[in-house]
Amino acid sequence: MRTLITLLAVLLTACTLFAQPAIWNETESQKTERLKWWTDARFGMFIHWGIYALPARHEWVKNQERLTTEQYQKYFDNFNPDLYNPREWAKMAREAGMKYAVITTKHHDGFCLFESQYTGYDAVNTPYGRDLIREWVDAFRAEGLKVGFYYSLIDWHHPHFTVDRVHPQRAGSQEEYDRMNEGRDMNIYRQYLKNQVREILTKYGKIDILWLDYSYPGENGKGRDDWDSVELLRMVRQLQPGIIINDRLDLKDMPGGWDFTTPEQFKVQSWPEIDGKKIPWETCQTFSGSWGYYRDEHTWKDTKQLLVLLIESVSKGGNLLLNVGPTARGTFDYRAVEALGNMGEWMKYNSRSVYNCTQAPEWIEAPEHSLLTYNPETKRLYIHLLDYPLTNFRLPGLKGKVKYAQFLHDASEILITAPYGHHMQGSIATENDLNLRLPVIKPPVEIPVIELFLE
Ligand code: GLC
Repeated sequence: MRTLITLLAVLLTACTLFAQPAIWNETESQKTERLKWWTDARFGMFIHWGIYALPARHEWVKNQERLTTEQYQKYFDNFNPDLYNPREWAKMAREAGMKYAVITTKHHDGFCLFESQYTGYDAVNTPYGRDLIREWVDAFRAEGLKVGFYYSLIDWHHPHFTVDRVHPQRAGSQEEYDRMNEGRDMNIYRQYLKNQVREILTKYGKIDILWLDYSYPGENGKGRDDWDSVELLRMVRQLQPGIIINDRLDLKDMPGGWDFTTPEQFKVQSWPEIDGKKIPWETCQTFSGSWGYYRDEHTWKDTKQLLVLLIESVSKGGNLLLNVGPTARGTFDYRAVEALGNMGEWMKYNSRSVYNCTQAPEWIEAPEHSLLTYNPETKRLYIHLLDYPLTNFRLPGLKGKVKYAQFLHDASEILITAPYGHHMQGSIATENDLNLRLPVIKPPVEIPVIELFLE
């Protein structure tokens, strides 16, 4: 009898121990499997759209100009994107080579593009009068893209969201914060947040990605306790078991608290790691400086810079989420249309070096001015020529390892030959190097790609 009681006690302790921290029980390989479509896809579209498209000077305009909700109201009252046609957007995304898209269902200003039963501050109550998300989801699914929702944890409109250091009405002293927050009850906001996340995850069918944004713990900041991140995430996992979630809930140290990391407007030096282990990642980037439509901002990246962003991400095992900020008429900025078209032109012929590809095996050294990607299933190595070389192209250490070489865009053979020239100085090739004989004229491709079939 005593042994039985001891056994029961041990079992009970074990159960509570295990029950506590697990937000999500999943093995490493189950996670890899769940994320597989996303790591294979590599390239997605971010869409930042809301009533900040009217001022057209950054999605943080309410904050940057410290506008009150009353001052900001004119953008809500005049929101009427009469040219909105998400089928056109979806087509442009697909033709650019993107495989998934993530749209802002609500940004920091609190405006909801979806019809919400918990607020009147949504698209349905603007002159436009319709749920923008419903049409968006249908259009993107119809083009074969996976769909994702961005949802802002921050809310500068909700009367119970406490004023903090990133709020438009941020205070100058602690006393002022205390005074401003009298009567504001974060419990009410927390419930609102949970209700809305449940709403977007139940009204539109299967949602592939959830992008929650963002936490800033510390003095007059907000983090996991303010959002009730653990419970929120449990609910999300329960409602959409297959969903992929970013890492901005302030749960980085909890197993199951996130799926991928999100370097923003930043090129990583190497594949991000935690405790020596490579982790899934996606960099989010803008064409120019702002996420929301910004009429007078002119620092737009050129086609080559954009392609390098994509290729370099894949070469380090990551994804690129590239942002478009549609106008208040509901169309893409003409500069974005042009950039997407140029990327699509390259992707049409070269996407084989992007989809299903990752970092090349460690033993392969990238030749000068090049980026490598690798498809582990087909054993093909892709050399992206950022600066087109002259005739002899040395591949260090690849002798005896390559069956065949060709340009990717037109499948034309590239000869494997001894280095060609006269009075050649220095060590052009060592015994283990391979030499390719490239045509003198650069192919008419922004970044030409050599495809090597490895042994
Ligand atoms: C930032 C900004 C925001 C943008 C986001 C995209 O956190 O607050 O405006 O939506 O990054 O990653």
